[in-house]
Parts: sequence; structure tokens; C-alpha cells
Amino acid sequence: MPKGGILCIVGARPNFMKIAPIMKALRAGAAPIPAKIVHTGQHYDEAMNKQFFADLGIPHPDINLEAGSGSHAVQTAEVMRRFEPVLDQEQPSAILVVGDVNSTIACALVAAKKGVAVIHVEAGLRSFDRGMPEEINRVLTDQISDLLYTTERAALTNLTREGIDPARVQFVGNVMIDTLHHNLKHAVPAAQTLADTGMDFSQGFGVLTLHRPSNVDHEESLRGLLETVGQISQRLPVAFPLHPRTRGRIEHFKLEGLLAQGRIFTLPPVGYLHMLGLMREAKLVLTDSGGIQEETTALGVPCITLRENTERPVTVDEGTNIIVGQSRKKILAAAEEIFTSGGKAGRIPEYWDGHAAERIAAHLRGWLDALGAREAA
Ligand code: UD1
Repeated sequence: MPKGGILCIVGARPNFMKIAPIMKALRAGAAPIPAKIVHTGQHYDEAMNKQFFADLGIPHPDINLEAGSGSHAVQTAEVMRRFEPVLDQEQPSAILVVGDVNSTIACALVAAKKGVAVIHVEAGLRSFDRGMPEEINRVLTDQISDLLYTTERAALTNLTREGIDPARVQFVGNVMIDTLHHNLKHAVPAAQTLADTGMDFSQGFGVLTLHRPSNVDHEESLRGLLETVGQISQRLPVAFPLHPRTRGRIEHFKLEGLLAQGRIFTLPPVGYLHMLGLMREAKLVLTDSGGIQEETTALGVPCITLRENTERPVTVDEGTNIIVGQSRKKILAAAEEIFTSGGKAGRIPEYWDGHAAERIAAHLRGWLDALGAREAA
């Protein structure tokens, strides 16, 4: 083992369920790997943040950067500015980043330029849509990472096409599904989460999540999606936990009426265990999230993805996911298919078995030993 430990970075909601099993696996066993959590503060609301640490039993962050919101440039720059002195102080052997949010690229960039090794978990996913800020974050983070852990086999093809040495890439499976396996027994029953909404869900319900700028930042797109889901909700009431960005956009465009016309019931952002309960019991899920495409595949629940593409093709090739974009016709056809036949059957992708973080920890021990030996030489 080299002298320094590992700094594990989290910033935004989708990071929390990925870091939870990794921290547990790093700290487990006879030879724990010293690891600290740095929270960038990209997400800071109680519902977007603290609730997840509590639900998932993630150790309190050792270091908080409190970078907060801003434009992409401001947010990324603020994380970088605040992370640099922490890196100088801590002198870790490596940093570990997860996913594709602004905090991921910001910390990876600071570390790479200081010669500190970067480990990227969930590497190699590509939507091939450079209009998505996350795609830029993915491509750049992978380029400057020393060790890349992937969730599905297609990721290696993407990485080698971009000139990344396959020797740096390890297929370990999906840590987010570790979290799902671990927490399923603690999932909050949907009846409890929906109790205050006034929804009659005795005949079942659907779930909607929306937060991508491409869906919520333009009035036409958001209006079209809400009208279409409103149509579906005439048949099946829909629970809609609202991301702060989406709530803001609905208010700004004065679209609240569209929710009231249909049977779409909004909720504040829900914690992980509530969301798990909602997804597990839903007849269908409509989403533009990356993680939810994977979670519905793992749960065997039909998922209609309101995007033109996905960086997670295994959820379509093997799972329950169908990509429909913003087309009203395609969304309604996909919902109809689920109503009539139950939707795609799907199977569980390789290594989505609840043990991905253990594979990472086992591999990382050897990798760190080799790094330590190089340092000593
Ligand atoms: C970020 C990630 C996205 C991820 C999503 C999950 C990037 C580029 N995007 O997008 O990949 O799927 O998180 O939620 O990193 N806000 C609050 N409270 C919070 C956090 C945000 O009110 O705790 C507000 C911000 O002020 C801002 C908006 O929500 O107006 C968006 O937040 P931001 O972190 O910029 O991006 P997300 O859309 O959440």
C-alpha cells in the first residue's frame, strides 16, 4: 500500500448511492483501504442531500467544500478552487470519483494536474450526445483517469475507441445495484409515500421523474411532456417527485394547470428508500434520469425513457428500458404496450449482482500495492 489513503468524492444526488457500497467495501475486511469522503456541496438541500446519507448509512463526509449551485463554469470552478487546498493538505495516493456530474470532472481535473492518480467508477458510458453536460464530463474524466471501472461491457468499446489503454479498464458491474440489493428490504411502501397526495392508487400507479435541461428548460418541451403524461394519467395516476430545477421551471412557465388537469400528483424530492418503494411497486416509470433506467432494469419494472438516447444501452438490450424521446406518439405507444402486454420482460445484466463494490475493493488492493511498490522504488 502507498502512504496516502483515497479521497472519495461525492457532490450530487446520483453520487450518493454509488459511494455508499464503495465506502463499505473499502473499509471492510482484514486489510481496509484508508478512505475519506469529500462532499463538494453541489447538492445541498436536505431532500437532495442529507436524507441520502441517512437512508444509505454513508459515513459523514470528512471534508465539506460547500461549493453550491451556479452556472456550469461557476460550479465547476468553485469545486476546483475549493478542492485544490484539500488535496495539498491530504496528500492522498489517489482520488475516486463516480458518475458524470460537475463535481466528478472538477475534482478529477485538479488531481490529474497535480499528479495524483484518478479512479473513475462508472467509466465508459456514452450517449454520444455532446449537448448533454454529463457527456462532456464523462469523456473528459475518462481521458484523465488512471483506473477505470465499468458497469457494462459496451463501455470498454467506447473507451478503446477514444484511445484509452484497455489495461486501465476493469469491468466490475454496477455499484448502484449493490445499493439497491442492500436496501430493497428497507424500501418504504408506496402507500406511505403517496398517503398525503390524495391519489387513488388502488388500481396501481406510474412514476414520473424529469430534470434534464433538454426536457425542462424549454417551455414547449416541458409542456408537451406534461400534456402527454397527463393523457397517460387518465388511465393510471402518476406520482411525480419534483427536482428543484423542474419545480422552478414549471412555476416559471406557469404550467401547474397541466398537472391539475390530469392525474399527476407532485411530491417534493423523495429520499432513496421512498423512491425505491415507489419504483418497485409502479406499473411503469417515465424518466429522463440515468440511474433510474438502471434501477428499473434491476427491479424488472417497465421504464419509458424520455430522452433521444441513452448512455446505458444494456438497459435497452437486456433490460426493461425503451427510449422514446419527447415524441408524444412514441410515449403513448410505449405506455399502451405496457398496459396491454406488461412491457418488455428483460433480464438482469452481467455483474449487476450486488457485489460490484467488493470487486472494486479487491482489485484496488492489488492496484494500490503496485502503486506503493513503484513509489518505494
Ligand atoms: C445534477 C447533475 C445531473 C444529475 C442531477 C441529479 C451535473 C452536470 N448534473 O443536475 O447529472 O442527474 O444532478 O439531481 O452535474 N438545486 C437546489 N437544491 C439542491 C441542488 C440543486 O435547489 O440541493 C437547484 C440549483 O440551484 C439549480 C438546479 O437545482 O437551480 C440544478 O442543480 P445543479 O446541481 O446545477 O444540476 P442538476 O440539474 O441537479
